[in-house]
Amino acid sequence: MDFFNYTNQVLHAENVSLQDIASQHGTPCYVYSRATLERHYKAYAEAFASHPTLICYAVKACSNIAILNVLARLGSGFDIVSIGELERVLTAGGDPAKVMFSGLGKQAVEMRRALEVGIHCFNVESEAELYRLDQVAAEMGVLAPVSLRVNPDVDAKTHPYISTGLKENKFGIDIQDAVRIYKIAHSLPNLNLMGVDCHIGSQLTELKPFLDTFDRLIGLVDQLAEEGIHIKHLDLGGGLGVRYKDETPPEPADYAKLVLEKIQGRDIHLAFEPGRSIAANAGVLLTQVEFLKCTPHKNFAVIDGAMNDLIRPSLYGAWMNIVPVSLLPTPEGKRHYDLVGPVCETGDFLGKDRELDIQAGDLLAVRSAGAYGFTMSSNYNSRNRAAEVMVDEDKVYLIRARETIEHQLAGEQILPR
Ligand code: LLP
Repeated sequence: MDFFNYTNQVLHAENVSLQDIASQHGTPCYVYSRATLERHYKAYAEAFASHPTLICYAVKACSNIAILNVLARLGSGFDIVSIGELERVLTAGGDPAKVMFSGLGKQAVEMRRALEVGIHCFNVESEAELYRLDQVAAEMGVLAPVSLRVNPDVDAKTHPYISTGLKENKFGIDIQDAVRIYKIAHSLPNLNLMGVDCHIGSQLTELKPFLDTFDRLIGLVDQLAEEGIHIKHLDLGGGLGVRYKDETPPEPADYAKLVLEKIQGRDIHLAFEPGRSIAANAGVLLTQVEFLKCTPHKNFAVIDGAMNDLIRPSLYGAWMNIVPVSLLPTPEGKRHYDLVGPVCETGDFLGKDRELDIQAGDLLAVRSAGAYGFTMSSNYNSRNRAAEVMVDEDKVYLIRARETIEHQLAGEQILPR
């Protein structure tokens, strides 16, 4: 459920009309709803309230510091994959002791900073990374908290680009090899072995792959116990899907029910790293129709939002719901349109063959754009990145100013001759 609804035929974010936001802040513009974000975080926190569980929001989904701050105020932890994400969390007032550091290519400088601020745990993805972390911790005279990200070889049944838990994927340590590598980790003097971690993919719409993963990981926990290695937490990653069109993904409560049954009686904490299921439906991309271009073959609506603003349709063929901000009929009537941006690529579209009653100047909202929207945006075609605003009941806050050409050029230099 989200807080984007029509009132008097006009789409609102909470109590604010998207027309007002467009006149005040321009387009393209990402609009987030605080109440929706909070609701989604609380759905996890409440579902797992009966068991010690750390919910670590995956920062990569939407990393604006205002978003992180809203979640930090609710007690959220954070899953990060770079020093940049770590600094965002710290700037936003996040608690470093609730930070998981994932990712398979951590640099020594990133490890050092994370150890300095005292993060909860590193999710290590290879034997080589273990040695690097042990060395950095030794240099600093500290113990590094560690989990190994295990690749359980489970098919997440999602898009191949966002499936991560199959043995042919680059992620994690093959579950077959895990005990050997845990023993190495256990023997390294500057590591403190904490957990078992995994993340099998994103936009999962059924629970079975998660539960199969759980069973494999708990099997590993038991095997490790026999070797005298006692695991304190199980991090099941992120991955719960959302509804873009007609998917019926499970709710956190459905997931929790099954996991809590399985973990009952064990002295082991849980952790999760949800990104999309918290942020996606808490944001829309607001864009304006520049021109209608109707040809004998096709009708195009040329909009001011493009693949550089929201790359999911171009990159994954993702279907995102695109709705008019005003439901009032126009003189153009209903037609089927491809919604295309101004970028010079045929692959620059946000939606294809959508039936809409729109005219030039109308506003459209791309729904479910809160996750992997702004964070994947770029300056391709030297376009300024969009503004971001957050609505809180009847107030609108600019949380990232629209980029300017000056921002884009800062740091570039021409040769002296
Ligand atoms: N933890 C790790 C280690 C991850 O790699 C990811 C996402 C998450 C947690 C959060 O997963 P979520 O709950 O959001 O599914 N750009 C793609 C999605 C890439 C996901 C990458 N990893 C998209 O737009 O669909």
